This record gives sequence, C-alpha cells and structure tokens, in this order.
Amino acid sequence: MRAMGHVLRSLVGLGWLLSGALAARAEEPAWVVRAGGGMVASDRDVASQIGADILAHGGNAFDAAIATSLALTVARGESTGIGGGGFMIAYVARDKRFVALDFREMAPAAATAERYAELAAQRRARAASQPASLGAAAQPASQPASAPTAAPADAGGPPVALYGGNAVGVPGLLAGLVRIHEQYATLPWASLVTPARLLAREGFVVDDHYVDACKSIYRDLEKWPALRTEHKALYEALLGGGEPPAIGTRIVRPGLAAALELIALDGADAFYRGQIGNRVVAAVNAAGGAMTDADLEGYQVRPRTPLRAKYRDFELVTMPPPSSGGVCIIETLNLLTAYRARAEIVPPFKADATYYDMLLKSMRHAFADRARWLGDPGFSPVPVALLTDPNYAAQLADKPVRDPNDCGTAQLPEDRGTSHFCVVDAAGNVVAITETVNGPFGSLVLAEPYGIVLNNQMDDFAAEPGKPNLYGLIQGQANAVAPGKRPLSSMSPTIVLREGKPVLVLGASGGPLIITSVLQVMLGVLDFELPLADAMMAPRVHHQWLPDEVRGDRLVSDELRGTLRELGYSVNPRRSTGIVQAIQFLPDGTLVGASDPRKGGKPAGVGKP
Ligand code: DON
Repeated sequence: MRAMGHVLRSLVGLGWLLSGALAARAEEPAWVVRAGGGMVASDRDVASQIGADILAHGGNAFDAAIATSLALTVARGESTGIGGGGFMIAYVARDKRFVALDFREMAPAAATAERYAELAAQRRARAASQPASLGAAAQPASQPASAPTAAPADAGGPPVALYGGNAVGVPGLLAGLVRIHEQYATLPWASLVTPARLLAREGFVVDDHYVDACKSIYRDLEKWPALRTEHKALYEALLGGGEPPAIGTRIVRPGLAAALELIALDGADAFYRGQIGNRVVAAVNAAGGAMTDADLEGYQVRPRTPLRAKYRDFELVTMPPPSSGGVCIIETLNLLTAYRARAEIVPPFKADATYYDMLLKSMRHAFADRARWLGDPGFSPVPVALLTDPNYAAQLADKPVRDPNDCGTAQLPEDRGTSHFCVVDAAGNVVAITETVNGPFGSLVLAEPYGIVLNNQMDDFAAEPGKPNLYGLIQGQANAVAPGKRPLSSMSPTIVLREGKPVLVLGASGGPLIITSVLQVMLGVLDFELPLADAMMAPRVHHQWLPDEVRGDRLVSDELRGTLRELGYSVNPRRSTGIVQAIQFLPDGTLVGASDPRKGGKPAGVGKP
C-alpha cells in the first residue's frame, strides 16, 4: 500500500507525465525487482520464487515457466490452474525463432449452439414462472425492492455458461505444459512438478486477492443461493463455507498434491487418459454438463503462427486467434498512428485530452471488429490480415465516431480468474504465458478428490446470443458455440522488440481489460519512455465498444473523467482495470520485473543486475 501511495503522488490528473521526465526513483516498490541473470514476474510471490529457483538451478525459461504455472495452480486457484487453459508467446533462443502455443479449452462434442439455446430458453422459462415478488427479491441489493414488477432473468438461475457443468470447456493447460516440456525444456518433468506438489501439501498463504475473489463469489451466492449446495465441495474447501479465510492463514490442498503426484509420474496421461480425467468428467456431468472421456482424450494443443506488427520503430510479437488480444492491440496501435498522423502529432507525445480521445476511438473500432469478426479460426475465416493492416486503420480513422454503429465494420450483432507471467533466462529465452479458469473459481465445479477447479471458459463464447457475457462483451456469430471449438479470448501475451532485440515482455489478466491494459503499459514504456513501474501505475482507460462507455482505473483523475465527459464520452464511475506482469530489458543488460500491485504479485530475479 505504501508503494501505491508513493506512485499515486506522482500521477496527478492529465499532467501525469511528460515524455521521459520521470527518472528511475531512488526507492523502488517491492513489486519491482532488478536482476541480471533471469527473472520471473507472476501474480503470486511464491510462484515467481519457485520459477526463479528453477532458473538458479540451471533450468531454462521454459522449465521455470512450467514450475511457475503449476505453482499458480496451487496458489492462484481462484484465477488459473490445470482445470483451465492458456496461451504462450515465446522466443526460443536455441532456434532463434518466436513461437505461439494455444492450449485454450475446447468445447465438448455435446456443446452445440442448439444445446446452449435450449438451456437459455429453459432459464428464461424458469424466470417467467417465478412470481414477481420472488423476482424482485432476486434483484441486486442496490435496486429498490418495490420497483420491479417482472421477474428478472436472474430468477431463472445464473447464465447458462457461467457456473456448473455447462460452463466447463475441456481443459488444455496441462497438455500445453507437457508440450512445452517436450519441445523446449531441459530438466526432468517430475522435478518441475515437485515444488507445486510440496506447496499443495504445505498450503498456500491466503492474500487480499484470494479474499476478494471469495467475496465476489459470495455476491453471486446471494443472488443464486442454490449454488451453495450445488457446489458444496468448492464452497467448503476453497470459499471457507461462506466466511472468507483470514489473510495470512494457509490453505492446504492434499487432493491437488495427490493429483500432482500422479502428474509427476504419468504426465498428461494422468489427466487426459487416467484417473484424474475420470474425476473431471464425473464432476462436470454431476453438475449438469455433458463431457466425455473422448473429449478429454481428443484435446489438442495447437501451435500457432505468432502475429507480428510494426509500431513506430518497435515490433510486436503477439497472440493470434483464437485470442482477440493480438489483433485488437495491433488494430488499436494502427489507429492511434493514423489519428496522430492526421493531427500531425509527433514525439514527444503528451497524455492530454486529444491523446485519450484518439486512444478511446481506436479501442472502440478494435472492439467493434472483435465482436463482428473474431472467433476460432478453425471454424470460420478470421480476417486477421485486414484488421491488422495499417491501411484499414487509416480508412477507419477518416470516419467520424458518433455512436457504436460508426465503429469498425461491425453491425450490432443480431441476435474474473486468469493469471499472466513472464520468464526470461540468461540464454535469451523469453516466455509469456497467460492462463485462466476464466471467472473467479471458474465454474465452481471442483473435480474431487483432487480439488481441481474447473474453468467456466464456455462463457467466453456467445453462449446466449445478443446477451453480454461475464465481462459485458457482446459477441457475434464467429464466436458461436460449436463442438470442438475454442472460445474467443482476450489474452494477450506479447513480446516487444527494437532492432530485433526484446525490450519488453508482458501480458495481463482481466477479460477484455487485458487488451487495453497491455496496450497502455506498452504505450507508457514505448511512447512516453516511462520507467516500467511508472508505466504500470499510469492511469488506464478502457472502452470495449459495447457498452458504449469509458471505464477507468482508480488512478484516473476526476479531472480526466470530466474532460472525457466534455468530449461526449459516457464515463462509468466503476473503477476497474487489468493486472499486468512485465519484464523490461534495459540496454545495460539489467532485467526489470514488475508485478502489478493491484493483485499483490512479486517478481523474483536471479543474479545481480
Ligand atoms: O480468455 C479470456 O479472455 C478470459 N477468459 C479471461 C478472463 C480473465 O482475464 C479474468 N480475469 N481476471
């Protein structure tokens, strides 16, 4: 908190920066670490330290990434884990090439659009059959109890892909880690699993983020009390039975320790073909879903071609579909460039009202195109080349933006979890992995007796067409549910190069806020030449096309909010942003790791800077 106050004092209103004006401060906050021989920046201190220990014992960045990820399964179970999935962008020094790996969840074979439409219809019918008074009682506490006369959709139960078995996609994380191990790692698999297994046995320490995640679920349990009994295992084991565990206490996860022991011995087979998988399938089906052994056996990790794009004299290497992250970041940067060219704005850049207006218009176009065009490229063509083409951005920049219909080429469609970490080693390998169970504690379905939190990634599809998902995203046909399909993601692991050499590696958690958070930390470092800690703590704005409003984090001043209102933006007072983890490469070889203090992570370094 002291560190946060320190940075807050240096960021005031629109004048939060002048290019390059903020020199590295004498005293750095605890969430910034400098080292010379390797770095892990994750959103949990113990996971970063486990990764750094692997580096110190001769492992490379891929070994460290595997150990870090498995430690996060234990210590950030509210955000990620082997019941979820993720993406990796990496530089493989041995081969001198960039790679992208997709271990995102896949929809089970039974997950047809018709099944989800039928589930949504049943939900509406349940809501309609509720007496009006019951509906009123189900309103959020902020609503006056006497006002509503019709039962809200909430009375029919949670959205179909939010909680329970129908929320769960076939997990991909462990298959991804095993693939990374086979292709790029150097240490024995079991030695990378052991630290996480020991952590599960000894217990992880409860922190603020964990308690906040519990509280966010309690709010939904108030709305839908039946979830308490339907998901009793998770409710008792991880949600403290309704009373948040005290910060600083340890939660032991013996079931997960047992699962990790099997995984250390049998690798992916223990999960995808063995006794853990049987329990995953049983838990999903007991919770109303339809997953089979064949779904697990058929899970496919997909190597992808990284997206590469120029921005000023930098180059970005980032995640292609089924993530929308790379496309949206590139489209936004191209638009920002086009707007600046029209206004003849050249460096040094200023974060003034014109800048925010240009940035927000760029985000609006990019998110409109996300809604219209983006989905799993294995199911419908995704016009990546068009959307990331600077000429396309230049055309869009010529259009006035008055309302959502002016954004992108999109028409209105008819009809919280996640953890990012970065690892760098002395050999020059660079790894950026974003992984997730989607919402806090995913689907609330726990695969017992192993204590594996199963994702609710099915909610990243347009599971109820025309309805906003957990993150308020309205999405189109390209992202409709289909068997074997991967839901569209916003996860944006990214490496930034200058003259072919990495200068920054980063990524974030926060649903669609991932895209705009990665973007703005990047802009802080690249355009405003801020030290990484200041770029991390600079105010961030967010616009995702619909809802047609700007959100900001708590560092966005009232003055800036007022300016945006004067420019005609609707500004939502809700304060939120993503959580970024990043490592910067300084010219003298120093690595600066930073873990966004909003989640309480901490990097761990190896070797003197
Ligand atoms: O893949 C996605 O875009 C979402 N499932 C990510 C969710 C997320 O980041 C939640 N975070 N706090």
